[in-house]
Amino acid sequence: RIVYVNGEYVPEEEAKISVFDRGFLFADAVYEVTTVLDGKLCEFEGHCARLQRSTAELEMPLPWSREELLEIHRELIARNELIEGMIYLQVSRGAPADRDFHYPEAGTQPSLVMFTQAKSLVDNPSAARGNKVISVEDIRWARRDIKTVQLLAASMAKMQAEAAGADDAWFVQDGLVNEGSSNNAWIVTKQGTLVTRDLSRLLLPGITRASVLKYAEAAQLKFEERPFTIAEAQDAAEAFSTSASAFVMPVVEVDGVSLGDGTPGPVTKRLRELYIDESR
Ligand code: PDD
Repeated sequence: RIVYVNGEYVPEEEAKISVFDRGFLFADAVYEVTTVLDGKLCEFEGHCARLQRSTAELEMPLPWSREELLEIHRELIARNELIEGMIYLQVSRGAPADRDFHYPEAGTQPSLVMFTQAKSLVDNPSAARGNKVISVEDIRWARRDIKTVQLLAASMAKMQAEAAGADDAWFVQDGLVNEGSSNNAWIVTKQGTLVTRDLSRLLLPGITRASVLKYAEAAQLKFEERPFTIAEAQDAAEAFSTSASAFVMPVVEVDGVSLGDGTPGPVTKRLRELYIDESR
């Protein structure tokens, strides 16, 4: 696999990052995961805009234009002959001479790392079955609207889910669902209304979430952006999660309670199809 590191395309074994890189030492880095379908990038504009926002919120320099980033994405797809999968992008505040909590002086070059990951996304057996989720306490920091690489809480949540025989975890705070471990959380009420939590610092503004809201509106589905509880999710007709890597992923069980007949629901299936069709 050919990866991109600070201006160079190199075989992955030859890629190098300094041990003083602040992404490595302080998780002082932000990232994006962009889907590739049929060899084409999906939703690049949305991911690029969110990257620009994440870096701006952290006062991190981003010395690459939208056009330059797009060009690197395209080059990686071509060099790796990627048909379906993801492109991972990470920008860190770079590698100053020493470990220091303070941001480095202006002039330290940020690090940009990008790689591809081939994966079958449309024909995903989990989407046919639907995921079982458990709720976990949201122990993450308070700026989840910034897409930083501090993902240990998400890893811990996924391990907890696995240990409980589930597929994923939803983060709950003060009795309300913020989002999934690496996705946004949704329910479809028995009245057929889509519900997902309103945006704030508590959760990531998902690019897939925004598109699904747009498609739901176009399809004249009712939706509400508001918090919901685990009890409301357990009483819902359907549930699902959204992310660049899983699109619209059915959720069929919440903390051991099956939703509907325990299989992916019709609204979820329709939104998944709509999303995939629109992305192609
Ligand atoms: N995760 N919420 C969290 C905490 C996420 O990590 C993600 C994405 C999302 C969905 O965002 P989007 O629709 O823009 O992918 C919501 C990526 C895919 C990951 O970490 O692999």
